Amino acid sequence: MKFFIDTANVNDIKAACDMGVIYGVTTNPSIIAKEGKKFEDAIREISGIIGPDRVIFAEVIDMKAEGMIKEGQELVKLHNNVVVKIPMCPEGLKAVAGLKKLGIPTCVTLCFSSCQALLAVNAGASYVAPFVGRVDDIGGDGVGLITEIADIFAVQGIETKIVVASTRSPLHIAGIARAGADIATIPYKVIAQMANHPLTTNGLAQFMKDWENVPKD
Ligand code: E4P
Repeated sequence: MKFFIDTANVNDIKAACDMGVIYGVTTNPSIIAKEGKKFEDAIREISGIIGPDRVIFAEVIDMKAEGMIKEGQELVKLHNNVVVKIPMCPEGLKAVAGLKKLGIPTCVTLCFSSCQALLAVNAGASYVAPFVGRVDDIGGDGVGLITEIADIFAVQGIETKIVVASTRSPLHIAGIARAGADIATIPYKVIAQMANHPLTTNGLAQFMKDWENVPKD
């Protein structure tokens, strides 16, 4: 399972890329709004940081298929490796099919059920993005949903990639990896939590302390 970072914050993107663990960046309108920058400026700035080999997911905001397709065609001009995020809805599915004909990769976002994921697959999406945390928020089983989608994709031989969004904790990351997700898109805070363990912190402190007792020249 590959890791993406789920933010438009350039400092967090730089830090995660420097750590060497990040293959892509995902954004959505809410994430972009938090940074207070114009949409295209934000995407261009992120593109400059991630370089040509990583991928950036950028979302359309038009509610009609025709408009989504036009937006998608513009978005792919901003970086050499853009995936167009399309919301899960009938117009969105139509746009996914249209963009596929143009050879533009898409990710169907706001996916909360296996049936929605299967619709995205049939429309021709390259990626489907189920939201693990938001399912938990309403008392559902987020990791269970990812397990169900991954099982169905395996049984059916589906090649569409599962990029799990709305990850909120290291527990989510371990759970969705075990379930068979292809990608986890993760906020920086959670990436930092994943790197931490109290036994690592204590062990390192002890190593440093003991090093003081090693004779030096
Ligand atoms: C999806 O598009 C978002 O990038 C994100 O993963 C949603 O996370 P949240 O549910 O914590 O807002």
